[in-house]
Amino acid sequence: MTKVLDLKNNNDYTRLEEAAQIIKNGGLVLFPTETVYGLGANGLDENAVKKIYIAKGRNENNPINLLVSNMEMINNIAKDISELEYKLMEAFFPGPFTIILKKKSIVPSILTANQDTVGVRMPSGIIAKKLVELSGVPIAAPSANISGKPSGTNFNDIYNDFKDKVDYMIDGGDSSIGIESTIVKVIDNIPHILRPGSITDEQIEKIAGTVIKDYENAVSNLPSSNYDHYTLNSESLLVISNDNEKIVSKINEIANTYSYPVIISKHENINKYNVKTVIDMGTCLDEIAKNIFTNLRKADSFSPDIVIIEGVQNEGVGLAIMNRLMKACDDFINI
Ligand code: TXA
Ligand code: MG
Repeated sequence: MTKVLDLKNNNDYTRLEEAAQIIKNGGLVLFPTETVYGLGANGLDENAVKKIYIAKGRNENNPINLLVSNMEMINNIAKDISELEYKLMEAFFPGPFTIILKKKSIVPSILTANQDTVGVRMPSGIIAKKLVELSGVPIAAPSANISGKPSGTNFNDIYNDFKDKVDYMIDGGDSSIGIESTIVKVIDNIPHILRPGSITDEQIEKIAGTVIKDYENAVSNLPSSNYDHYTLNSESLLVISNDNEKIVSKINEIANTYSYPVIISKHENINKYNVKTVIDMGTCLDEIAKNIFTNLRKADSFSPDIVIIEGVQNEGVGLAIMNRLMKACDDFINI
């Protein structure tokens, strides 16, 4: 049985020593970060990284990022860092921000899918941060979900999927942000945003002057540019409009044509639906972001014949939420 360390209600972080030892020895550790849970291994150990791809069922053309705890680690894995790249790291590290840098040869090519770049993030979540510090190596850590499924932001959501596939698991409660980091790659001195997150385009623009939204090109030189699909078992539909009442009436109209619809609704609308199961996604965008993946999983767990989801404001962190919902849903309607 895989050992579970419960740090939800306990802040004795010296207990992370055992997990760090497993990382150093080439094992797999599932652990929380402030964005989503990660599935971690020594990022400089080719065999350990291979285990991540196997445990997730991840396509080996899809590169994995490294978590670091200080600048020295970054200089050990990345080279030719530009002034703008330093400025962005200074502004957003530690935090929910990943930057794609030129890699040094110490970084194994299996981690980067043979590309000459590597994604680097310095997490602010205390457990992730301490785990990297104690391990003394950059930790390769994709989101902890079976490939193609919603990211895990709550230990219970992912426990069963990984209990027989990893060496050690850390329960740190709910991830505080709930969606994966913003990913940026600087090309010709302009930040390209490859994945929107809770560090917004506007925040990056403030530092860099200008940005390019390049959301669908996370792995731009590879044939398939997008592996993150967050697929549900149930049919799923996203309903988008600037007019809240239009969203509600459209969803009611569609829900009426199904025998068991489940609706994921903003708090203000939960009593406006005529169906058995309505999931409350929350009020503000931060709250919606924090619970979005766990709500998708919850909706799916009822095995409905459709999950219908309200779109949210397409601004700030709402951009990141809508980016994930567009990927998760089979279809969308914009009215
Ligand atoms: O918040 C996060 O970033 C979380 C936590 C665990 O740190 N991690 C995460 O990892 O979301 P993952 O593997 O689920 O998503 C990372 C994305 C993938 O879409 C991958 O294709 C892209 O980053 N990526 C990794 N290395 C890259 C590179 N060298 N160039 C372009 N895209 C890259
Ligand atoms: Mg992922």
